[in-house]
Amino acid sequence: MRPDLTLQAQPDAGAVARAAADHIAARVRARGNLTVLVATGSTPMATYAELARRVQAGTLDLSRVTAVQLDEYQGLSDPDPRSLWEWMDRSFVAPLRITRTVRFDPRAAPQDTCRDYDAAVAAIGGIDLAILGLGLNGHLGFNEPPSPADAPTRTVTLTPASLESNRVYWDTDVPTQALTAGMEVILAARSTLLLVTGASKRAALGRLLTGPPSPDFPASLLSGEAVTVLADRAALEGQGPAPVSAVRA
Ligand code: PGA
Repeated sequence: MRPDLTLQAQPDAGAVARAAADHIAARVRARGNLTVLVATGSTPMATYAELARRVQAGTLDLSRVTAVQLDEYQGLSDPDPRSLWEWMDRSFVAPLRITRTVRFDPRAAPQDTCRDYDAAVAAIGGIDLAILGLGLNGHLGFNEPPSPADAPTRTVTLTPASLESNRVYWDTDVPTQALTAGMEVILAARSTLLLVTGASKRAALGRLLTGPPSPDFPASLLSGEAVTVLADRAALEGQGPAPVSAVRA
């Protein structure tokens, strides 16, 4: 088990969502103007719904949060309800009443949108908190394997594994090219929550927790005290004993 990762075990996906929302809420209360890198995908949706519930109940104010897009398909028209921007807008930006955002500009040439994205992230002082899901192939955003720690924000060709995972969201051809925040942006985040739920993530989580850090499994390049892996029992089953100090029930 990797000693340089903090693993927080939770009984189920709902508990992961509540713990993640608690973590985010605590950071927002401490800082106010938090800059958050926002993953889409199925895993973080329960966390965003929990945050939305708190915002709507008036117990959490996220109006000073800046939401930064993590990744996007390339070559879509704008607007397109299947874009990751629109998914992020529906699930995070609108329900959490967030007014400040950084997105990949779909109208610019890919190299320009990547340059502008990096400049915008730098101008706001980088990422305070990255909320990430774990790809079955270890990708973070669309940093497909192999992606070294210094992989820049760029256009990527999606791997067959990612095309297969994405197919569920598309009734026609799945886009094969995407834009992603580089590993260097993600790894520079001042704190990171990696959310891992469900039995389908068992093998990927096992590789993360036990394998050596490697560009061949980009998530394994996350390390350090500021990285918290929040995983549920279904994903953790059969992973072997974790260091007791690293696991909070
Ligand atoms: P998921 O995707 O949350 O839909 O499982 C994670 C990912 O592939 O990055």
